[in-house]
Amino acid sequence: MKVLVVGSGGREHALVWKIAQSPLVSAIVAAPGNAGTARIARNVRVAADDVDSLVRLAGEEECGLVVVGPEVPLALGITDRLAELGVPVFGPTRAAARVEASKSFAKDLMLRAGVPTARSWTADDPDEAVSRAREAGFPVVIKADGLAAGKGVVIAGDETEAEAAIADALIRGRFGPSGDVVLIEEHLTGEEASVLALTDGENVAFLAPSQDHKRAQDGDAGPNTGGMGAYAPAPVVTPDLVEFARSAVFEPTLSALRELDGTIYRGVLYAGLMITPEGPKVLEFNCRLGDPEAQAVLPLLDADIVEVMMATTRGELDPASVPTRAGAAACVVVASEGYPGPYEKGKAIAGLDTASSMDDVIVFHAGTADRDGEVVTSGGRVLGVTGLGSDLASAIERAYVGVRAIRFDGATYRTDIGHRALRKCGMP
Ligand code: AMP
Ligand code: GLY
Repeated sequence: MKVLVVGSGGREHALVWKIAQSPLVSAIVAAPGNAGTARIARNVRVAADDVDSLVRLAGEEECGLVVVGPEVPLALGITDRLAELGVPVFGPTRAAARVEASKSFAKDLMLRAGVPTARSWTADDPDEAVSRAREAGFPVVIKADGLAAGKGVVIAGDETEAEAAIADALIRGRFGPSGDVVLIEEHLTGEEASVLALTDGENVAFLAPSQDHKRAQDGDAGPNTGGMGAYAPAPVVTPDLVEFARSAVFEPTLSALRELDGTIYRGVLYAGLMITPEGPKVLEFNCRLGDPEAQAVLPLLDADIVEVMMATTRGELDPASVPTRAGAAACVVVASEGYPGPYEKGKAIAGLDTASSMDDVIVFHAGTADRDGEVVTSGGRVLGVTGLGSDLASAIERAYVGVRAIRFDGATYRTDIGHRALRKCGMP
């Protein structure tokens, strides 16, 4: 069958790479893809948020499966549209994607389901929001309710910072309609982990638990980014914690959705957890794979992903069909200097073939484009270099060997991906 993959980042290159290994697949179309997907798939210039054109493309290409990478087309209802035409889609419906598209919806659902999470209040009036923040105490977390491309969360250390964040969203309209309502949330402390599972609405199959590195610089300094690296499995997520996630987070959330309005969640459900001194609490749900978590987790998936995705879309997911292979994976993101702020584009990238041909190194493209026969930078996060190994230390070592083979003007990356896990294992 032909498969359409929607999106253009590192996550989507990892999806295309994994899907291409399935004997069920005759061809892959990526919309819009990047210079990496172009090596395996046929890129078509259709934006990931242009749902009308994507639906048309899936029909014209007679795709047997559509796999949606990012959250925006899911929140816009691409799954519902394609389902009407009888096209199988891996990714939740618009109603199910509310777990990510509205943080207040997700909070209400968690309360209904008894899922542990931070206390929070919603407000659409700036004065009310500020007084709620004062009540909660500082630091406090201010979140835009809707989708904000990972930029909608501010941790405010004092009242002045809280007022500024609230005014940004509610008065200045920095996030458009996504910021017409804000959540004022209790600040949690602890270690974060990303627990991702495939689900057909009832059955839950966990992928290798992972940890993302959201800050731009070593030692978790600098501004928040989309993610500068990830590794899996994350030792902070013990087998007991996975069982806790199943029984206290995933299963109650899926049944609360069914009970609320009959919503059946099919696709990937991603729970961002904070392991607090009082136990794990959910920081957020995402309705898709993480980026860069996918670049670490998908190489560890020991299954035909297309078979598993098709079973998920039919409501016949068998968790036993989704094993994780032994060993570890670490992904180091190579970014453009300045990211997550302004950065230059169009820099020629050298060393891609050398790095890609190394043992236990996979180079996933993110912000890249082909220009006159060479690959150039076209985004903030440019590449995700994944290393594989029998343990985390060797996976990290392979990732950095790959990274050091790649050169472009202004290339930056963190040198401490996996540091927390290595310390836990007694390594420097
Ligand atoms: P979110 O998009 O809700 O995951 O928030 C992005 C990041 O903000 C998370 O990965 C955390 O690092 C941080 N964050 C969100 N909510 C909280 C919270 N209640 N307490 C502390 N940090 C938080
Ligand atoms: N890496 C965080 C996310 O994908 O939301």
